[in-house]
Amino acid sequence: MTAQLLDVIDLETRLQSQSPQEILGFALEQFDNIGISFSGAEDVVLVDMAWKINKDIKVFSLDTGRLHAETYQYIDRVRDHYGIQIDVLFPDTEQVQTLVREKGLFSFYKDDHKECCGIRKIGPLRKKLLTLDAWITGQRRDQSPGTRAAIPVIQDDRAFARSGDKLTKFNPLANWTSAQVWHYIRSNNVPYNPLHDRGFISIGCEPCTRPVGPGQHEREGRWWWEEATMKECGLHAVNLNDKP
Ligand code: ADX
Ligand code: SF4
Repeated sequence: MTAQLLDVIDLETRLQSQSPQEILGFALEQFDNIGISFSGAEDVVLVDMAWKINKDIKVFSLDTGRLHAETYQYIDRVRDHYGIQIDVLFPDTEQVQTLVREKGLFSFYKDDHKECCGIRKIGPLRKKLLTLDAWITGQRRDQSPGTRAAIPVIQDDRAFARSGDKLTKFNPLANWTSAQVWHYIRSNNVPYNPLHDRGFISIGCEPCTRPVGPGQHEREGRWWWEEATMKECGLHAVNLNDKP
């Protein structure tokens, strides 16, 4: 039986108490056509864990065209370190050109980030997810009290599923803290983005990310000019539309 035919609610009960490695092991066993959505510290932990289970893992990353130079170099470091391909996905040229022609390169500071994220991140993600049966993300519950506090380790992703089909989403680190992620990185010599050593915790696009100071929440440096509790760019729309 494939996970698509299993009840995700039952599975959630079963997997909730399992380790990220066990959850990943289950996900990779159930789905051949599954990909890790890679960008941050959490994701490289998942790449490391998954690679130790199966060297033939699929990894993809959304290149918005606005990432830090350090992030581009880091993507290649991870590629070389594990000897894997990373599918780097680009936004639709016409859509980016139209947005920039009509609203300039920094429209998100005036309008909010949704339109730009929609074009640079969500469009390419949607296209990619049409080709997969399941995907894996590095979301954690304590990343965002407003939107991630209840994320399950396995869910039906109704926001991105092909019509009439199921798309399963795994969040194997849902129950981990940032400290556990960093403990894993340090003790397994996992490569990480050098921006983390310069005060960045959660890293997105360069114009929309800044370092945080002592005591600030890790996502306070993302879209800092917007309201704090609903900071989602739409990659995890299921968090907003489909709270369990
Ligand atoms: S975001 O929605 O605010 O940008 P965040 O940076 O917290 O997301 O990352 C949460 C998860 O979304 C990551 O663990 C990763 O799985 C996925 N993700 C975020 N940004 C990207 C990206 N540029 N490419 C691929 N996956 C990403
Ligand atoms: Fe655009 Fe900022 Fe969203 Fe990146 S994070 S896609 S630059 S609005």
